[in-house]
Amino acid sequence: MTTVIAGVSGAIGAALARRYLEVCPGQTLIGLCRDPESAPEALRCHESVRVLAWDAEDEQHLDSRGLKAALEASPSVENIIYAAGLLHDDEMSPEKRLEDIDSQSMIRAYRVNCLGFALLMPHLAPALRGKHFKRIAAVSAKVGSIADNRLGGWYAYRTSKAALNMLVRNLSVELSRRYQPLACVALHPGTTLSGLSAPFQQSLEQLTVHEPEQTADNLFAVLEQLGPDDNGRFFSWDGSELSW
Ligand SMILES: NC(=O)c1ccc[n+]([C@@H]2O[C@H](COP(=O)([O-])OP(=O)(O)OC[C@H]3O[C@@H](n4cnc5c(N)ncnc54)[C@H](OP(=O)(O)O)[C@@H]3O)[C@@H](O)[C@H]2O)c1
Repeated sequence: MTTVIAGVSGAIGAALARRYLEVCPGQTLIGLCRDPESAPEALRCHESVRVLAWDAEDEQHLDSRGLKAALEASPSVENIIYAAGLLHDDEMSPEKRLEDIDSQSMIRAYRVNCLGFALLMPHLAPALRGKHFKRIAAVSAKVGSIADNRLGGWYAYRTSKAALNMLVRNLSVELSRRYQPLACVALHPGTTLSGLSAPFQQSLEQLTVHEPEQTADNLFAVLEQLGPDDNGRFFSWDGSELSW
């Protein structure tokens, strides 16, 4: 079997990759990230892992030939996981109020949190052919739930994650027509120690915070339990369902 993880250099993406390789050491894992050299060495040097260059903010950066060749050389794809995400970096930080809204930050968040997945799927979907059950999951965030939003703020992140959720729902319709049986879902990983959550450590103290390995275990368990009836749904790390 083959698992594809976009964002394999991130805390959650890398922990999920390790989890899949632990459970099924012989499987093929295709990882995508901006700089393959920045992926953890244990993954880069693993004989079953292929790490390829891909940047959600730059379509030209995808090694599409390398990806096509890797998919063609791999056994059937069972899992596709989108684990890339952007909340802050040197050029942007989550907005606290209207006046903080910035077009570049909104566009960048949309590109990394949603568009990157949309543009990858046409490359990946043909590998979903086959009668086996497939899982396509986007690591989203509870703050992307429209129904759950009581606090406001974080405009770029929230709106781009809400867009990602709609993308998941749209994909669930088309992919299940073309490649069933499968479940295409959005996942809330729970608060997890990572570069993305690091600046919010103080406010995280009131929350349950997971190590990336715990999060990978939790998400793996949710993914393993999916069946065709779960297609198009939004799940939290503990398996409970979230409203869109
Ligand atoms: N940590 C949490 O508490 C938490 C909570 C809710 C949801 N999430 C979601 O979980 C997912 C993983 O986050 P994480 O906590 O593992 O954070 P992380 O360690 O910061 O990982 C973020 C990943 O996104 C990638 N990325 C950023 N910009 C990119 C771009 N332009 N093109 C391609 N990849 C790009 C990073 O790649 P580089 O290595 O190249 O920077 C990295 O692989 C995200 O979608 C995040 O929104 C996390």
